[in-house]
Amino acid sequence: MVLFPALIILVVSLLFGYVKYFRKSRGSKYFASFLQFLFHYSPQVNPFKTSSTKRINFVDNFICNYNVRHRFWMIPDLCQHISKKYGKLAELDLFGQRIVVVTDHKISNAFMTKHTKRLRQRFGNEGGLKKLNMLHTGLIWNNDVAAWKNNRAIFESTLANGARMLGELSDSYFTSTLSPSIKVGQPNSILTLLRNYTVTMTMEGLFGLDSCKSPSWRDNVKATVGNYFKAWEFFLLTPNTEQLEEEERHKKFCHAITSLSRQILASAKTTNQSKFIEDLALVKANDENQIVQCITEMLLAGTDTSSLTMFYTSLLLTDNPQVGNQLSKLINDSSTPESNTIEQMISNLYYESMRLVSVGPVILRQAEDNISLEGPDFNLKLNKGDGIVFNIAGQNLNEDPFTCAKKFDPNRYDTGGRVIP
Ligand code: HEM
Repeated sequence: MVLFPALIILVVSLLFGYVKYFRKSRGSKYFASFLQFLFHYSPQVNPFKTSSTKRINFVDNFICNYNVRHRFWMIPDLCQHISKKYGKLAELDLFGQRIVVVTDHKISNAFMTKHTKRLRQRFGNEGGLKKLNMLHTGLIWNNDVAAWKNNRAIFESTLANGARMLGELSDSYFTSTLSPSIKVGQPNSILTLLRNYTVTMTMEGLFGLDSCKSPSWRDNVKATVGNYFKAWEFFLLTPNTEQLEEEERHKKFCHAITSLSRQILASAKTTNQSKFIEDLALVKANDENQIVQCITEMLLAGTDTSSLTMFYTSLLLTDNPQVGNQLSKLINDSSTPESNTIEQMISNLYYESMRLVSVGPVILRQAEDNISLEGPDFNLKLNKGDGIVFNIAGQNLNEDPFTCAKKFDPNRYDTGGRVIP
């Protein structure tokens, strides 16, 4: 099977080289043109031009497809399985698409830096994205690059302007709303408290609404967001979900969040307190479906990611009381020299907690073009349409550059200005 095409290539290239030899009358060209031809038209036999990704074996490929199709695994589970067995650069076929998994911070960094413009799209199936109202809509999975750029500018402007205001709101939330409402002696779930906090901040700070003070309204928001995340997992990659019995339930979750976002839009228009809602008028053609999806995505992005990160940080502090004591001493010690020492320590604490428990464990992209990148010990090639997964959770646990990677050590970022990725 393999010999036959190889033989044809050999004969044709010999002829090609022969003709060149006689035209240019230079002996060395004869061999050079043969090799050029061979390498150009059959890259699979060229040891220098092929991608150095390891292809996972047939059985593993089947296991990955089966587990993702039946949602026993999410993409982060798949990455963990592959990187443990095949190392920092591996590839598989997922539902007919070539996917490369990168678990190395240097390769991810080089790839994202050098090819960011050709890696603007994310992979996912179009039918699923449509049901999620994400197909060419909103921000997070919007593969219409012009529309994404336009919507991204709106989000960036909101977040740049909103940070200080959110800081003030959160101070007052902890002192006047949260502290008096906690009933000492009764069980309190830290995760629930933190979820209430981030939902309130998003509603008040970003949408200009205070209706979220009603617990039932807030609980409805949390449940609707949680259900939409389940629908997202269901629809994003799995093909032909129509044949599955959960289809209707997940469609309802998608409708529920859309109608919640419509309610938010209507209420925010009457209170007129939100710069984000005001700026959404800049969405192209003032398309209401785009506007509603942007509200949905601000809710998704701003609530669970932050509350979960704070939750895991508090768990890590419980397991490592010496770090908490060090911070508490610094905060309560009146002779603490500068407040930026405290801020630095808090930042280090969150870096370390996000490293150990990544709430955003993977970044997914799709090549808009053929791309190749060479490094000292790798050669990565993507063809147009290939998917690439940056396994952030996996690379955060690599010994390079994180020595004793499993250890919780916020002081590892005290590097005197040197940035650790
Ligand atoms: C610890 C908290 C957070 C984590 C771990 C986190 C993580 C992530 C990750 C991994 C992505 C995907 C990046 C990519 O594919 O390039 C993302 C995107 C995004 N995040 Fe966050 N995030 C957090 C908090 C927030 C907050 C508080 C907001 C807004 C209030 C936010 C807004 C966004 C937006 C708008 C995007 C989409 C960006 C785009 O597609 O251009 N995130 N986040």
